[in-house]
Amino acid sequence: MNYTHKKKVDKQNIELINYLPNIGISSVVKEITEGLNTTPKTISPKFFYDGKGSDLFEQITHLKEYYPTRTEKKIISSLGEKLDVSFENLNVIELGSGDSSKISLLFNQISADELKTVTYFPVDISQSAIEKSASELIQQFTLKNITGIIVDFFHQLKLIPKPGRRLFCFFGSTIGNFDTSQARDFMKQLGSTMQRGDSLLLGMDMVKDISVLESAYNDKKGITAEFNKNILNVVNNLIDSDFSTSDFKHYAFFNGKKNRIEMHLKALKDVEVNLGSEKIHISKGETIHTENSCKFNLDDIEKFGMWAGLKTAQVFNDPNKWFSLVYYRKN
Ligand SMILES: C[S@@+](CC[C@H](N)C(=O)[O-])C[C@H]1O[C@@H](n2cnc3c(N)ncnc32)[C@H](O)[C@@H]1O
Repeated sequence: MNYTHKKKVDKQNIELINYLPNIGISSVVKEITEGLNTTPKTISPKFFYDGKGSDLFEQITHLKEYYPTRTEKKIISSLGEKLDVSFENLNVIELGSGDSSKISLLFNQISADELKTVTYFPVDISQSAIEKSASELIQQFTLKNITGIIVDFFHQLKLIPKPGRRLFCFFGSTIGNFDTSQARDFMKQLGSTMQRGDSLLLGMDMVKDISVLESAYNDKKGITAEFNKNILNVVNNLIDSDFSTSDFKHYAFFNGKKNRIEMHLKALKDVEVNLGSEKIHISKGETIHTENSCKFNLDDIEKFGMWAGLKTAQVFNDPNKWFSLVYYRKN
């Protein structure tokens, strides 16, 4: 996560534009410090994704217990002709692109002639994830161009280019990391930046059996626990704090009232942490809330479209209806 370095870098002929310095490290320090001074203590999930965090998330997506990635990938792989979009001269904007493995499943289904006219914009807060995925993608496909955009998509959506007709892709049910009011704000912002003819493919993880949900976030190999604890290393690097990951344990459960998996870090003992200029106390058993993963119902599909001013055009599911891939249009 690069909040300080120059805006533009060129690597292997891939253009990368980093807008995080527009936010600046001082507001990141403020955001994290404020979150650690609230009750309950919180750290935003966007801070999971330094180089190591992005790698750990990729490992999570291959875990036996983590059904969302394989389920959504199967849906994307079988879209074929069913998806009602023309790829000719399309600008594909993938929000939270991560390892870009899902977009490559979509590109696999497009003819080489059409692909040559497609411009791909991976958009992510993790520069290392974009660098790695874009250089892999360029070996795999002949696209018109790839331009990586490094932004905080919650605060900097307006900076995403408008070069012509755009298909936004927001996979992985990353929308579920927002609480209801953030999701409403985000969908409103997204809808207002979209132009007539633009469209959105949104991945939504649906409510299901609690045991399936809870085991997806408590894998036996402990990769999710490592991913969760790594947020403390990221915070240490960003704000010069001195969290020790061994003072905390991973804690994830389904909150039935709010239809969401909550991930927390629970203190194993009383700890004092220096946050650069101030000290905080965390009592044994107290938690730092690091992530929500909201699970959705059919009503949420229409609600998201309404918030954004988009029309639900198509909904694709797996046979168990565990995951929905929703295609919205701006008319
Ligand atoms: C749950 S992962 C999903 C990755 C990928 N789309 C998938 O479906 O496997 C969330 C992705 O969004 C990115 N991300 C999280 N918060 C972000 C933010 N505020 N702005 C930009 N990217 C963000 C992360 O770096 C990560 O790549």
